[in-house]
Amino acid sequence: MCGIIGYTGYRQASEVLMEALKRLEYRGYDSAGIAILSPNLSMHKQKGELDRLRVRLPKIEGNVGIGHTRWATCGKPSNENAHPFVDCTGKIAIVHNGIIENYMQLKEQLGLESNRFTSQTDTEVIVHLIEKHFNGNLLDAVRLAMNEIKGTYAVAAMVQGSNELIAARKENPLVIGVGVNENFIASDVTALLSYTNKVKYVMDGEIVSITPDRIRIFDPEGNEVQREDFVVTWNAEDAQKGGFSHFMLKEIFEEPQAIHNSLLGALDIIKNGDILPNVQFNSIKMIACGSSFNAAMVGKYIMEEMAKIPVTLELASEYRYSPGAKEFPLVILISQSGETADTLAAAREARRRGCRTLGITNVIGSTLTREVDEVVYTRAGPEIGVAATKTFITQLIALYIIAIRVGYAKRALGHDSMWGYLNELRKMPGIVQSVLDRASEIEKASNILVEARDVFFIGRNINYPTVLEGALKLKEISYIHAEGYAAGELKHGPLALLDSKTPVIAVAIQKDLTYDKMLANISEVAARESPVLAIGCEGDRELAQLSDVQISVPCVQPLFSPIPVTIVFQLLSYYAANKRGCSIDKPKNLAKSVTVE
Ligand code: F6R
Repeated sequence: MCGIIGYTGYRQASEVLMEALKRLEYRGYDSAGIAILSPNLSMHKQKGELDRLRVRLPKIEGNVGIGHTRWATCGKPSNENAHPFVDCTGKIAIVHNGIIENYMQLKEQLGLESNRFTSQTDTEVIVHLIEKHFNGNLLDAVRLAMNEIKGTYAVAAMVQGSNELIAARKENPLVIGVGVNENFIASDVTALLSYTNKVKYVMDGEIVSITPDRIRIFDPEGNEVQREDFVVTWNAEDAQKGGFSHFMLKEIFEEPQAIHNSLLGALDIIKNGDILPNVQFNSIKMIACGSSFNAAMVGKYIMEEMAKIPVTLELASEYRYSPGAKEFPLVILISQSGETADTLAAAREARRRGCRTLGITNVIGSTLTREVDEVVYTRAGPEIGVAATKTFITQLIALYIIAIRVGYAKRALGHDSMWGYLNELRKMPGIVQSVLDRASEIEKASNILVEARDVFFIGRNINYPTVLEGALKLKEISYIHAEGYAAGELKHGPLALLDSKTPVIAVAIQKDLTYDKMLANISEVAARESPVLAIGCEGDRELAQLSDVQISVPCVQPLFSPIPVTIVFQLLSYYAANKRGCSIDKPKNLAKSVTVE
């Protein structure tokens, strides 16, 4: 969602801001803008892609500025509603990510005090509140303004005549980039990778002041606090396309390496037992949104099989409103970004209910890591494409590892079985690579989807959640309506929708308990003349006879089959969307980091 950048230093601020906003594009946005002290405040904003702003931008000299990519929540996407916003004097400018809940009351109150409003946004009240409190000290004015605000925010502000930037956060991400004779603030580290790999994370309720040679951080009570620098291991290249036509494709092809890195980190967990040092819980609840929720669903099968422990699942957006039975499961919260507002709210609620919490995330220093008792990092590297690909797969890796850890500690798994599973996991980078080696075959197979209006994905057992993920991937990037179904449910309704124009993608893995049942379900589909694209094990002739197109994956234990099958789904979706000319890395209406509830 919205991306924030602020710069104060010796470089041309307009160049830094535009470069950083480019890096923040992946978060999702519909308009963009910058404001620079030159030395008077010069502001430029534009609805649409960043390039539309770039071509309209005059040459602006100046070394201090703020910039923003907006993802509309309050007020439609338009030039007027784009950030930054300035006060009535035209000297103070701000950018904001989040939602101000009491903006109507504040607007009414400020309107009476003859403030000019130029937009329909909630954000604009912030700059007028700062103006109301400003008497030469921007830090104080921002603090007083924030005290009047109800809601969530990451805000950056500047005032003409000063090289100081002030920023504040509540429940929205904010990080300080530490430079030499220059400093930065940003929504996330990817914006800063071209300039610095040293950051300081800003905590909830804190306010910061940065100038080119000084960084000060204040806690909610106004006390100055010291914060260590954190060195980020991602580099600028990781966040570039590297010759691929889209980030999504690059990120799919990075999956063998991502799994390898994820396993290296995770194996430490097993060796050192440094997560879940005691396993005094009798059940697990997993909570997440979107693809991360689909990973959690796969995780339930893994956990129940390996650790023999009951698992329940809840969507993060529902959990906090659920009555909450008197039980104390281990709560596992899964979020690649670690910034999804619903998942963060669920983490807080789980703690409030007295549960022990474990987070699985890809982003070091993200808010989730501070809201849970323990963290497992997925180590997938930066993911820029909006569709989760390598982060989804590495979430699965983390879940296998946690299941093995819990299973072994609870004696559900013996030593040999534990090593059997670990050895199977070690094969996964190679297995995934061999699926990627079939990319051109998968590209050809995607033709079956390109003209479709509706597509069904069917699977059973552990590949039921896998097909839900397949359907989500296809719909989000190709805009084809897709539904994932447990194949046994077809007869209970959706079969009525099948015809020769409705392709069905079916997963049937030999040796899985449900394999024969899947073959029967595929026959039912074929009898309705739906074109069938089947995904199964290499050499499965029976499946080939039942399907119009078959994509084979290497034979693995059924419990691990979601990994190769998901890679096929990701590639199918990518190629179908590409042939339809869709905006693959930035699908319409979607954002990478969903920081509003
Ligand atoms: C789909 C996708 C989304 C996210 C969801 C949760 O490809 O990326 O469905 O999975 O928005 O995001 P995180 O995992 O960051 O909490």
